Amino acid sequence: TKLDMELAAIEKGGYDHFMLKEIFEQPHTIFDCLRGRLDATNGTITMSGIQQYAEQLTQAKRIIIVACGTSWHAGLVAEYIFEEVTRIPVEVEYASEFRYRNPVVGEGDVIIAISQSGETADTLVAIESAKEKGAIILGVVNVVGSSIARTSHGGAYTHAGPEIGVASTKAFTGQLAVLTMMALKIGHLKGTLSEKRYTHLLNELNDVPEKVALALEQKDHIEALALKYKDATDALYLGRGYNFPVALEGALKLKEISYIHAEGYPAAEMKHGPIALVDDKLPVFFVATKDSFHEKVLSNMQEIKARKGKVIAIVSEGDDAANALADDLITVPFADELIAPMINAIPMQLLAYYIGVAKGYDVDKPRNLAKSVTVE
Ligand code: G6P
Repeated sequence: TKLDMELAAIEKGGYDHFMLKEIFEQPHTIFDCLRGRLDATNGTITMSGIQQYAEQLTQAKRIIIVACGTSWHAGLVAEYIFEEVTRIPVEVEYASEFRYRNPVVGEGDVIIAISQSGETADTLVAIESAKEKGAIILGVVNVVGSSIARTSHGGAYTHAGPEIGVASTKAFTGQLAVLTMMALKIGHLKGTLSEKRYTHLLNELNDVPEKVALALEQKDHIEALALKYKDATDALYLGRGYNFPVALEGALKLKEISYIHAEGYPAAEMKHGPIALVDDKLPVFFVATKDSFHEKVLSNMQEIKARKGKVIAIVSEGDDAANALADDLITVPFADELIAPMINAIPMQLLAYYIGVAKGYDVDKPRNLAKSVTVE
């Protein structure tokens, strides 16, 4: 009815779609997630649902992360961050695989379950059985009071607010913010993270909302790129290190809402297969912000260029090293490599959104997908 339509328009707060609204909410949702927890001035992180398990965490022999979909990608970023700052080995598991294979898990293990909805059946059953075997379960969940939140011993909410768009956006960056705080907290307690690096990373984390707002200012440029590349039948997303999971998430966003076949790959792996796909029609998106892998990523870019692939590079502001190699550039504010995924995710989301819209698809309700998968 007309009333329903008007109500829906009000809920979208002036945006054409929930997805766009939620993408643009991120400076606020990340701020809300950090607020009351991160105190960069005094050098503290307060997370009561984690602190309770501080001893188990600092002494953990390993951490297992279980999740599905976009949340699984957040888990992969967390793997890199946790291992770097806590020196605890981390495994990231698809919940659906973990729960069915009689995994080796028990007392002394810490499981982190990541879930926007808190209702994903595979993730829920995975933690229920690990809990029975004696593992400590920590939830990183968006929906307060959800099944995964209730089943977990402790954890932290992402405070991203209701996410309506089926393709996850603000929940993802909220998950990264929570997981980064957790890792820094544990690394600091363990002493595996130097005081100087800890302080630096707290400040970098504090700057994320502002940098995300700056990244969003690229919207018109990204919309223009979306129109340029919308007719591609395939796309490749590449990145290394902390940006590898960002590439996976970029490819997933594109698949979900524009129905373009896309693959995310660690940039160095492409020579073992996907490079065979490269021709002058294939757009290749590089997440190539300045980090310790930068030189290597640039040489991967060169390899694509040499095969006439279309290179679209997401680079740090002020870095012109990719200019000669890329057909198109998207710039984002520079951030420490541990923090950069939260900022680099933004252009990936916008690109998928504008391509989906340009193709005339219902981006808030993509075909065949559900917001919350409560069946196996
Ligand atoms: C569904 C959604 C995805 C989400 C995944 C995991 O497939 O469409 O956006 O990433 O489930 O959901 P969860 O709520 O557990 O994060």
